[in-house]
Amino acid sequence: MNNEKKILLGITSGIAIYKVVDLCSRLVKAGYEIEIIMTENATKMISPLVFETISRGKVHTDMFHSGHHEEVEHIEMARRADLFLIAPTTVNTLAKIANGIGDNLLTSTVLAYDKTVMLALSANTKMIENPATIENINKLQDRNFEFINSKSGMLACNNIGNGRLAEPEEIFERVEDYFVEKDLKGKNIIVTAGPTREDVDPVRYITNRSSGKMGFAIAKKAFQRGANVTLIHGDCKVSPPYGPENIRINYNHELKSEIEKRFDDADCLIMAAAPCDFRVEKYSENKIKTKNNLILNLVENEDILKYFGEKKKEQMVIGFAAETFDLHENALKKLESKNCDYIIANDVSSSTSGFDVDDNKVSIISREDTIDMPLMPKIQVADEILDLI
Ligand SMILES: Cc1cc2nc3c(=O)[nH]c(=O)nc-3n(C[C@H](O)[C@H](O)[C@H](O)COP(=O)(O)O)c2cc1C
Repeated sequence: MNNEKKILLGITSGIAIYKVVDLCSRLVKAGYEIEIIMTENATKMISPLVFETISRGKVHTDMFHSGHHEEVEHIEMARRADLFLIAPTTVNTLAKIANGIGDNLLTSTVLAYDKTVMLALSANTKMIENPATIENINKLQDRNFEFINSKSGMLACNNIGNGRLAEPEEIFERVEDYFVEKDLKGKNIIVTAGPTREDVDPVRYITNRSSGKMGFAIAKKAFQRGANVTLIHGDCKVSPPYGPENIRINYNHELKSEIEKRFDDADCLIMAAAPCDFRVEKYSENKIKTKNNLILNLVENEDILKYFGEKKKEQMVIGFAAETFDLHENALKKLESKNCDYIIANDVSSSTSGFDVDDNKVSIISREDTIDMPLMPKIQVADEILDLI
């Protein structure tokens, strides 16, 4: 799909330019066709040869170069591109764009471009928070510009503060988001992911093998498809995706109360989390001494999926059933007993699907139908699940 998408990548002379080598490589590997414009100052920081090699294309730098001119370069580049991304964007180039100045190839091409321009800003904190910069950002908010805001952290000037360029992963994801059809726009979706835990004593707890990957994939895709997504998750082995509101919890009661706060306004709850089914009957205030044959009495926890299944009015509730035998029968029982609209059933006895791997083989079960899906990447499973909404 990406093969058809052309990205015009503008590069200016911010110190974070080194991150854009990585970004460019990611975009190329994902199949985007990249055309690059560097400002003259940017070429003093990194040679165009680096970007020419990584992008496997031409890097344009000079508006007035001599040679063969079949076309007016900045007009044709603007016409060809599906998205114009400028990373890093210096506050200088931002100021020119905000004021309609076209004094070099990059800024002239921005003037000739009528689709979305994404600006990934980065500069020293004082420069980025300068009233002139803020005014320039505000000027562009109502036009065809999207901002990838700078982050706080250690800056190249050795100060700690706002101004770091967003990481290449985030910029890459924003590009991917841009090209996904926004068919879930306006929907409020709560996605839960990963395990919860139950404390045994001050140093030990019980949990389960859920990695959070399936829930994170659903949250990422729902966000890309335009939904307002809240992702509520336990301690996961992977980082949560950029975009959704991200709420970290540890315990079942936190999971329940965070869902509760949002449930009335939600269109859909997708419970991909694996809350602990049991807790120890008696938490030990002191660390339990090592001994042979320690017996822990476990009692059943409240069933959160069932609670929201019974509470729902207009909301769609989608649950997961991780089973090791009688997959369909058990999933159907779960659908009925928890009053869900759909159960996504997966057989976790296989090592290639389910917990902690990138692929999943699921069955989508409703009262009317059972659809057995083939083994596929979780990100693709996520799309199939979101198609139900
Ligand atoms: C080492 C160095 C690092 C710089 N880093 C930044 C930066 O991160 N952000 C920024 O807005 N300007 C930065 N500047 C200043 C810009 O390079 C300067 O404003 C330049 O005129 C911008 O030109 P351009 O927008 O055409 O690339 C830096 C300058 C130097 C020498």
